[in-house]
Amino acid sequence: MISCYKAPSAMICHFTALLCLAIVATSDTSAIKIHPIPECVQNNQNVTLNVLGIDGAIRLFTWYKGTEPNSDNQILNYLPSANPPFTKGAQYFTDVIAQPNGSLVITNLKKSYEGNYTVQIQTASINQAIWDLKLEETCGSFFSAGVIAGIVIAVLTAIGAIVFLSFYLHKKFNNREMNI
Ligand SMILES: *[C@@H]1O[C@H](CO)[C@@H](O)[C@H](O)[C@H]1NC(C)=O
Ligand SMILES: *[C@@H]1O[C@H](CO)[C@@H](O)[C@H](O)[C@H]1NC(C)=O
Ligand SMILES: *[C@@H]1O[C@H](CO)[C@@H](O)[C@H](O)[C@H]1NC(C)=O
Repeated sequence: MISCYKAPSAMICHFTALLCLAIVATSDTSAIKIHPIPECVQNNQNVTLNVLGIDGAIRLFTWYKGTEPNSDNQILNYLPSANPPFTKGAQYFTDVIAQPNGSLVITNLKKSYEGNYTVQIQTASINQAIWDLKLEETCGSFFSAGVIAGIVIAVLTAIGAIVFLSFYLHKKFNNREMNI
């Protein structure tokens, strides 16, 4: 059991708690993540692997194919201070465009472009995020025509049941009253 009310251990205890909080806070703010736009992608479409949560100015970022950030997997490197800022890596292909904000646009999507994409972004610290890109056959919204029809039928059935039940109960109640 950890308690904080006995000096001088209290000070160490409080300090430790503060340190833990600080570590949690730092790891929270430094976390970046990839959010694709649009979320559902199909063959021949474009997708932006948007990087969210970048803290501070970008010094350098690198996109890799796969989950291992090594030079064999490098798609491209982007150094904002260089001219031109981007250099091609071993896994570069012509359908990728790096955005100055760290995002990667992939155009003319094909089945062969599926798989993991890893980005490493260097600001004051180095952060990494991975996205497993998958092409979908259909991108119908959850409320597709079939689902809407289903919901309408279910609602009508429920209303019908309620009307029937209240009618039946009402009748039964009235009958009971008459019998008294
Ligand atoms: C994909 O991006 C390319 C290059 O920016 C553009 O020419 C093309 O029209 C886009 N395609 C779609 C389906 O949005
Ligand atoms: C980064 O740039 C792309 C392309 O201009 C844009 O769609 C995206 O919203 C930007 N992302 C952020 C986090 O600003
Ligand atoms: C992407 O990486 C995850 C985690 O390592 C793995 O489970 C998944 O199979 C990978 N996806 C592909 C398409 O290789």
